[in-house]
Amino acid sequence: MISRFSIALPFCFILCLIHVSSAYEDDGKDPTIKTMEAFSGYPIHEHVSPDPLSSLSVDTQGLQKQFDELASFSDSPAPSVTRILYSENDVLGRRYIKNLMSLSGLSVREDAIGNIFGRWNGDEPELAAVSTGSHTDAIPYSGKYDGVLGVLGAIEAINVLKRSGFKPKRPLEVIMFTSEEPTRFGISCLGSRLMAGIKEHAELLKNTVDNQNISFFDAAKAAGYSNVENLSSAFLNKGSYSAFVELHIEQGPILEEEAIPIGVVTAIAAPASIKVDFEGNGGHAGAALMPTRNDAGLAAAELALAVEKHVLDSGSIDTVGTVGILDLHPGAINSIPSKSHLEIDTRDIDEKRRNTVVEKIHQSALSISNKRRVMLSQFKIINQDPPASSEEFIIKAAESSARELNLPYKKMISRAYHDSLFMARISPMAMIFVPCYKGYSHKPEEYASPEAITDGVKVLALTLAKLSTQ
Ligand code: GLV
Ligand code: MN
Ligand code: MN
Repeated sequence: MISRFSIALPFCFILCLIHVSSAYEDDGKDPTIKTMEAFSGYPIHEHVSPDPLSSLSVDTQGLQKQFDELASFSDSPAPSVTRILYSENDVLGRRYIKNLMSLSGLSVREDAIGNIFGRWNGDEPELAAVSTGSHTDAIPYSGKYDGVLGVLGAIEAINVLKRSGFKPKRPLEVIMFTSEEPTRFGISCLGSRLMAGIKEHAELLKNTVDNQNISFFDAAKAAGYSNVENLSSAFLNKGSYSAFVELHIEQGPILEEEAIPIGVVTAIAAPASIKVDFEGNGGHAGAALMPTRNDAGLAAAELALAVEKHVLDSGSIDTVGTVGILDLHPGAINSIPSKSHLEIDTRDIDEKRRNTVVEKIHQSALSISNKRRVMLSQFKIINQDPPASSEEFIIKAAESSARELNLPYKKMISRAYHDSLFMARISPMAMIFVPCYKGYSHKPEEYASPEAITDGVKVLALTLAKLSTQ
């Protein structure tokens, strides 16, 4: 076991360097101070700041500019952001991230489906790397911080460490995951599921199409990923990373309400998603009499209400369910819906309880189809993932980083899913949260203050530094 002091002393040294480095020349020293030191014969660095731990040199303004620039690659007008997998704006965003990685001196590679990796080789490059990262795809009409913080913030954390003169022992790697959001192909965390080597997921992707009937493979090839059919080449072995840490906005209100700048995530809730189709006879909205109808739209409406009931019946505040997609065919005011399509998202920190809800939703779909004489033409569980727990040694590294930076923190669970949920299958994992305005996320009002972002980047930088020397 390494004692706290043996870690704390080198970090104190690193941080002393960090706080003055960004504004100055390559060797990290203010030339004026150098001259004065030479003249007086003793170092005066400690007088620059009384508390070097609180003055890590995050380039807050530069980072804000990057958030804005990346947000401009959007299919919807500002302040909303829409960046869908393999769209033109997604490709532009990818190019932007690769360029930032290169500017930070990272060696960049992409795998078959476009997970992007930027590596800083440490003193012992053969050791398993410490990795960090998140996603930059954005659901329709969302904000500019979800996921993006964990990518831009990670690159800036590397910059902070580099400017400090810190040299990692293990390599440090920034990852931009492909399509954490399920928007285009209905499957979340495409990139991290594949990296985790989930074979059923790779099989599913081979036959997956979007709502324009464009196959996953064709979409990836159009975005430049010609090797996409070699999906297994993206699988990573367990042990490829010694640790994975993801920085993210909280997406909930707790940190802001309690005025706590840092959340340390101990577990991620278990998500499931389901696709359902009902089919009826349709017909004329005026002429078909009510007793003769088998309305697929009403079946969908009844199932949506059943989802809410089953979730509330669990009696736990941790159980949630949402019908985020409800399409009716043919979609004319004077035509009885002949087809309906629902996509249901349900989650819980307790996997068993979540599974009970999924089963009850299935039973309701069957009984509604029976009662309304509509066909249940699809009930497909797209994913039903277990929850994940963070690893104690990474939690400890994040906690001690927050403490050394004088930033209060709170241990908490993540109700949203993240690529960390799947990275946990191949690497020890934990997450760092920062507060966001009113907990808003997945809407244009999503906002994290420059101060919150800066705090998060500092904690991430220090956590990575600690992990890279372990
Ligand atoms: C991630 O975007 C989620 O829906 O939790
Ligand atoms: Mn999201
Ligand atoms: Mn996210």
